[in-house]
Formats: sequence, structure tokens, C-alpha cells
Amino acid sequence: MKVLVTGGAGYIGSHAVRELLDSGHQVVVLDNLSKGHEEAIDKRAAFVLASTEDVDLIVNKIKLHGIEAVMHFAADIEVGESVTDPFKYYQNNFSNAVSLLEALNICGVKKFVFSSTAAVYGNPERTPILESDLRNPINPYGRSKMMVEMALEDACKAYGMGYTILRYFNVAGASPDATIGEDHQPESHLIPKILMAAREGTAVKIFGTDYPTSDGTCVRDYVHVMDLARAHVLALENLSPGKGEVFNLGSESGFSVREVISACERVTGRKITVEEGPRRAGDPATLVASSKKIREQLGWERKYPDMETIVAHAWNWHTSHPEGYVKETEKSHFILTEMASEEYRMAETYRYFGE
Ligand SMILES: NC(=O)c1ccc[n+]([C@@H]2O[C@H](COP(=O)([O-])OP(=O)(O)OC[C@H]3O[C@@H](n4cnc5c(N)ncnc54)[C@H](O)[C@@H]3O)[C@@H](O)[C@H]2O)c1
Repeated sequence: MKVLVTGGAGYIGSHAVRELLDSGHQVVVLDNLSKGHEEAIDKRAAFVLASTEDVDLIVNKIKLHGIEAVMHFAADIEVGESVTDPFKYYQNNFSNAVSLLEALNICGVKKFVFSSTAAVYGNPERTPILESDLRNPINPYGRSKMMVEMALEDACKAYGMGYTILRYFNVAGASPDATIGEDHQPESHLIPKILMAAREGTAVKIFGTDYPTSDGTCVRDYVHVMDLARAHVLALENLSPGKGEVFNLGSESGFSVREVISACERVTGRKITVEEGPRRAGDPATLVASSKKIREQLGWERKYPDMETIVAHAWNWHTSHPEGYVKETEKSHFILTEMASEEYRMAETYRYFGE
């Protein structure tokens, strides 16, 4: 299939692009590099430097490349920032997603895989969370994602758009060969933060040690990024126009903060300094989603379910790329800022790899 991957220069998108290409699909990446990295884009994919808001450009690219389906990862992902700057999230995550859907609709593309989040559940009433459980997001990030889910439900009814929504919490790890991995600025995810503390000898904070869990710390879902990428490809290959599906991608039992820290100590061989503090407001004790539905319906199996493998792959990535993709980001920035005219920008920024 010819697939447009938005956000394909980002953490999860770049791994999904690799999995798509390895599965025999053709890929066009669309990314504005606001957070992504050119270096992360697989050389076998075509790359369009543009934003999801640009309906005319996307219509052109869909026609030019004969795009048959879209995987949509492009979004802003910082929950805290979404609280202080909610319009940024409603604009980029929701409004721009509608623009993208509009372009698809103009071109008659009716297959859409949406990278959603378990944040749409808010503080769930039970765990493991099922797909049918109430959506009740507690921050603008979660709400912006829920609104896209709703737009998809309506687009399915009105225009016959086929969609699969994938909801997940914490994605972690890196490609096993350590060529692509996680490079977020700022980094708010637990595993890279612990590994950074291991490298730099700084302390990791634990917020709350008196939760009703096995060791008193919060329990969360962690899924290896390659397992997540595989789920996206499976979702795409099982999509039909006019039908909508929702799947959770979770680790079923989850891992406590202390368990994650212990795994990091075993993998790195370093003692990690811990600072214990009080609970943070709004942090539920356990957030774990059931993946029974996608396992039963699509045969999804996690290849890397254990925390040590997830951490080992992340550690290999971080130690082999101590500054992440930083050099390439600077290079891209240079290219963008040096472009004199719009015409030149349009000509130069559509770089095609492997076509
Ligand atoms: N990382 C996680 O643990 C996690 C958990 C649940 C859901 N998600 C979802 O997965 C998706 C990918 O997350 P990630 O961790 O890879 O984030 P990321 O920031 O690494 O990747 C997002 C990519 O989208 C691009 N982008 C943003 N806005 C764009 C726009 N308007 N047009 C074109 N490109 C744009 C960025 O440049 C970046 O390359 C997001 O939709 C996020 O909500 C992530």
C-alpha cells in the first residue's frame, strides 16, 4: 500500500515508517520538523517538509504519490504545555487533523490509522481499561485527541471514512539496532529521564511511595516502540473503508516506577539515586490498558514484553547517540532559515529518497 505517514520524523512515526517499509509498503513522510528529526526518516521513504494544516499541498501530494492510506502521528504531546497553552493543542492536534481529513476526503482516501492516547480515559474507573470504557480526559492534550476520535466517528458516518484508533500510554525503547530512538526536547518520559540520570549521575524523583500498589509507587503501561509500530501496520492492513475500530495497546499488568528504576540499574550496571517526594495531584495509582481486543482480533503479539529488553534498547540508543539527533536538527533549521524565497523553499524542501 502507498501510505502517507504524518509525524514520520518523530519518535514513534519513524519506527512505524521502518516497520511499514520492511513489510513491503511504500511510504511518504509528511513532517514539519517542529519536533522531529530529518535524520530519523528512513532513506527509503519520500519526505515532504510541510504541515498537516496545508490542505492544498496534501491534496497534491496524495495525487502525486497515489496515496491509499494515512497513518497520523503528527501532534504536540506535552500534557503540561497543553494546560498552559491549550489553543496550541486544539489547533495542531485537532484543527490540523481535520484539515488533513478534509484533504483525504477530497481525494477519496478512506483509510486512516490514528495515533491516539490512553489520556482520553482520564482517571479511569477501573483497570485494566477496556476500549468501551468512558472517555473522560482531564487535560487539553487528552481532549484534543478525543475530539479527533469524534471527528473520525462522524467522518465514517458521513463520508465512509475507514479508521482505526490506537490508544496507548507510555511508549519506550528504540530500534534493536540502535539506529533510531527517542529524542524529545523537552524529555518528559520516565525511561529516558532515568537513563539520563544514570549517565549524568543525577537523581530521579519518585512522586508518591504510598500508593496501593505492590511497592507503593505508581504502576503504568509501557510498550516497546517496535511492538507499537507492528500494531500500526496490522491496523492498517486490516482497515476497511466505512468501518471504524478502536484498540488499546497496553502491557496488561504494567510496571511500577521502582520496577522501571531497578530494570534501568540492571541494564546500565549503575546505581541510580532516587529522591522520594509526595504524590502529585491527579496521578492515579495504576493506569493499565487491556490489549485483549487487538490480540484476539488482529493477532497482535508483543515481541519485547519485558522491561529489561525495553530499557536495554533505549540504553543502546542513548549511549550511541548521547546528543540524540541534534546535529541534523540544526542542519534542517539552517536550511529552513536560509531559504530566501517561498519558491525556493517549495523546490528544495521536497526531497525524495528512493523514488
Ligand atoms: N510518546 C508516547 O509515549 C505517546 C503515548 C501516547 C500517544 N502518543 C501519540 O503518538 C504520536 C507520536 O508521538 P511521538 O512520541 O512520536 O512524538 P514526536 O514529537 O516525537 O513526533 C511527532 C512528530 O509530528 C511532527 N509534527 C507535529 N505537528 C505537525 C504538523 N502540524 N505537521 C506536520 N508534522 C507535525 C513533529 O515534527 C514530530 O516529528 C502523537 O500523536 C502522540 O500523541 C505518544
